[in-house]
Amino acid sequence: MNTTTQSVSITVNGQAQRSLVQPRTHLVDYLREELGLKGSHLGCEHGVCGACTVRVNGQNVRGCLTLAVQTDGANVDTIEGLSETGEIKDLQAAFIRHNALQCGFCTSGMLMAASELLTAQPHATREQVREWISGNYCRCTGYQAIVDAVCEVLASRRQGVAA
Ligand code: FES
Ligand code: FES
Repeated sequence: MNTTTQSVSITVNGQAQRSLVQPRTHLVDYLREELGLKGSHLGCEHGVCGACTVRVNGQNVRGCLTLAVQTDGANVDTIEGLSETGEIKDLQAAFIRHNALQCGFCTSGMLMAASELLTAQPHATREQVREWISGNYCRCTGYQAIVDAVCEVLASRRQGVAA
């Protein structure tokens, strides 16, 4: 084994992955370059924009601030995983309905953040939605449509109907 690499075992979107990574490799780079999961994006690369958001053991983290070796033994979920399981199907449909994306660069991070909110604060107000996604930057839509979409899904999930 190359002494500059370290063996890690990470369950990504439900599939066990064993890889050799450099200790300095960030989680988002590992996911994109090693596993080809390009849905998590790299924007600012220093924890500000949220484009790299992924879930580690059920909690959202910045993939650009997390080292791959820190997730050894962990469960990591990416936007691809959330899409494939249908977990955020209603949210994705609402984003499309409300035109809550333009270039799409921020969208995976927005969906990850919104998904966490739907679970953590099912009774969130519009103001709380705005605050929750304030760590995710969008340079295109001006946020109104994104907040509209999230609020619609919050309401429909509370009523137990598909948005
Ligand atoms: S790329 Fe990670 S927060 Fe911007
Ligand atoms: S849709 Fe372009 S950055 Fe958000």
